[in-house]
Order: sequence, then C-alpha cells, then structure tokens
Amino acid sequence: MAVDWSKNIDAIMTAGRWPAEGVGKDGILAAAAEYLIPGRVEKLKNLGFPMVVGRREGYYIWDVDGRELMDFHLNGGTYNIGHRNPQVIEILTKAMEVLDIGNHHFPSMFRVDLAKKLARLAPGNLQYTVLTSSGSEANDVAIKSSRWATGRRKIVAMDVGYHGRTGLSGAAGDDETARYFLSDEPSNFLKVPFNDNAAMEVALSKGDVAAVLMETVPATCGFPVPDPSYLPRTKQLCETYGTLYIADEVQTGLGRTGHLWGVEKWGVEPDILVVGKGLSGGIYPMAAAVMNERAAGWLHENPWGHVSTFGGSELGCPIASLVLDMCSSDETLDHVRDMAAFIGGGLLDIQSRHPFLTEIRQTGLVIGLKFDDPVGGIKMSKALYENGIWAMFSGFDPSVLQFKPGLFIDKKYCVEALERLERALRYAENTVGDKGSSTLSPDNWQNNQSTGNSNGI
Ligand SMILES: Cc1ncc(COP(=O)(O)O)c(C=O)c1O
Repeated sequence: MAVDWSKNIDAIMTAGRWPAEGVGKDGILAAAAEYLIPGRVEKLKNLGFPMVVGRREGYYIWDVDGRELMDFHLNGGTYNIGHRNPQVIEILTKAMEVLDIGNHHFPSMFRVDLAKKLARLAPGNLQYTVLTSSGSEANDVAIKSSRWATGRRKIVAMDVGYHGRTGLSGAAGDDETARYFLSDEPSNFLKVPFNDNAAMEVALSKGDVAAVLMETVPATCGFPVPDPSYLPRTKQLCETYGTLYIADEVQTGLGRTGHLWGVEKWGVEPDILVVGKGLSGGIYPMAAAVMNERAAGWLHENPWGHVSTFGGSELGCPIASLVLDMCSSDETLDHVRDMAAFIGGGLLDIQSRHPFLTEIRQTGLVIGLKFDDPVGGIKMSKALYENGIWAMFSGFDPSVLQFKPGLFIDKKYCVEALERLERALRYAENTVGDKGSSTLSPDNWQNNQSTGNSNGI
C-alpha cells in the first residue's frame, strides 16, 4: 500500500505548533480541559500560572502567549543539560538513520553499551541494569527485586518521599494518593519520619523489611538536606538487618548535587540505584534500576521476570549514554560546584534583605527556598511566573519553592535569575497572610475534597 501521508504530517504539525494560530492559548487550555486534564487546567488557572509551553531552547521556555521564562523547574532535572540540547538532537538524528525502538526480547549492543556505562559509573558494585521508560517503573523493578532477594514484602520509605505513581512506587509515596486509588498497602509500605535514625532502627529491627527506599534529598517536600548521619546510618542499619538500600536518584542523580550521584556526598553505596528524568536528555524517555548481584539474581533465574516493550528503547540508549558522558565529566562536576557556590552566595545576599525568605536548602544545584508563609512557595511560583522565571512550589510543603537551575548555566544567567527572583520576592512578601484566593490553603492547595495535599510536584 503506498499512500502519501505528507498532508497529514503537515496538518498534525501545524495544529500542534505555536503560536497557536486560530486557537490561541485559551483554545488550547479549553481543549486540554475537554480531553485531557480537566481538573488541572482549572487549578492552574486558579493558582495563576496557566502555562502552555511553546518554544523551548537551552534553559529558557516560552509560554505560547510569548512570555519568556527562565526554567528553574526543569521537570525535576529532565532538562539538566538544557532543552533541545544540540548534541542530543545530533545523536538522536544519527540514531534515527539506523534504529527504531528495537525488540526488547533480544540483546542489542546499544543497550549493552548503556548498561556497561551505568555499571562503571554507579557507586559500589552495581553490575546489572534493567532499563525502563519511567522512574516509577524503575522503582517498581527495584521494589520487586528487593522482595525477591530477601523473601520479604515490607518496604520502608520516608514520610516525605515521592517515588512515582505506578502501583508499587505509588504505594511507597504519600498514603493519601495511594488510598485515593485504593492502592495503599499500609501493612507492607511503612513510612518513617525524615531524618529520624531511631525511627528507622525501630522499623528495620524486626528483620522483616525487604528494602528501604530513599530519595537522597526529598524533592517533593522541598529538598530538606539530610543530617550528616542520616543516610549512612540508614545504610548501616540495612546491613545489620539484611535489608536492601534503594537510592532513588531520579532527581538527585546525574550531577545536580556536584557529585555524579547524590549518595556519593554521604558515602553511601546502595544495593539498587534508580535513575530517570535527566537520563532522557530531555528528548527520549529512559530510566533505569542499576543493581548489585544480590538484588539482580532473578535475572539469571527468571529471564522474562520483568519485561517492558519500550524500556531501553534503542533510540534512547545512545542519548542516555551521551548524557552519562556529559554529566560525569570532571569539567561538568567542577562547573556545577562553581555555579552552586555562585548562586548560593547570591541567594544568601538576597536573604539578608528579605527575611521573608526564611531558609535556603542547598545541595549543589538542588535547591529549596522556604518562605515565611504557609503557601509562600505557591505565591513565589506565581510571582516568578509574572517576573520571567518558571519554578514550581513543593507539592508536599507549599511554603517551599523548588529552585532547580540546569547544570550548564553560567554566571550571567545566574545574575539575571537572581534579579528576577528578588523582584518577585518584593511582590510576594507584601502578600503575607493574604490567601489571594480561597483555593490557597497549605493543607489542601489542590482544593479537592478527596485528595488533600498530596500532589507529586
Ligand atoms: C524522586 C522521584 N522518583 C521517581 C519519580 C517518578 O518518575 P516518573 O515520573 O518518570 O515515573 C519522580 C518523578 O517526579 C521523582 O521525583
């Protein structure tokens, strides 16, 4: 059959392009409300940032109405190396000359190369990789592997953790959302308070826990920095009680902390390392669970134990491999540390003039800013949106703003961002105590009777 589909191609691409001719931004929002995300469109309007991302380049995005925004959200690090990074586009273009998704039942040299690189770069002795198409799925694989390895079902996670929204990863996160979908499993997924070594010991001491699943710096609650002893002590307890340590580095991996992996800062060698988001280069979905022999033993025994049609798509492998080269180089990690010091100094300077900014939480370029207002993070997201920065508040603690610059920013970009931040601060600090709209409540910013304060933002 030889049909010329080029008219369809043109029509599809024209309909999706910006500026959204004939439709306009309101038209796109209305269509999204009709077919995709009705509740969310409404909520984004109420919060004051009904954005539709149009053009995107480097560390900038443009709303379809033309508003320029410096991207300090980066979708949790998906755009660590920038939007539409030219080298990523180059390698994808080359890959598309010869590859497609591939057949996940068979080996491929592109997949092997990526897995070998992950094994070489991962902390400790993590030799085997299961490639997936999302961080949630990689966490599911990590949980299943730890259960297989230990013959135990229980998983311990922090009460402030977010690990995705698939079945197992969702049950390991906040209870409210899991319960909402009747997917919570309170007897198998135990939550312990962040930074509490004693609580961790109590949870593990019965010797019936398969794994502790830890975000190295918990993102969704606004990047509170773990106490120096917290992660090492947790690892020690895991060894004592035969529990596996799963490091969820979906947000903290790939150089953001000034180390290739966040756990390196605390000298922790996990049994399983979970990577996602940035591994995609912002272009092609890719995530991974990288495991030691103990966790990955089922790969010998049960060859089809976990399969995923799109996991480890061959088109994504060369990209992920290039991302690893870029993020692990000494030049990149030195640069991240330099930029972290520069932007950290600028933030302290701003804080000296604005007590509204009560806390700067910084681990490299992983940054959370806490404000003297229970919904200060939400107010700052809006004020920044009005002043040319896109940064997202923390879903689990709306007093905090996640402030996540990219790995390759320079001083000029930082100076501009700090100026925009201070302008936004001046505006937001005058609204303390003002809820702005009835929907701005720290306990229930989603304004949804059933779900409460539990979004994975
Ligand atoms: C720490 C962490 N783990 C896991 C996930 C889930 O990743 P994905 O959305 O790719 O399923 C996220 C996503 O935000 C995350 O921040």
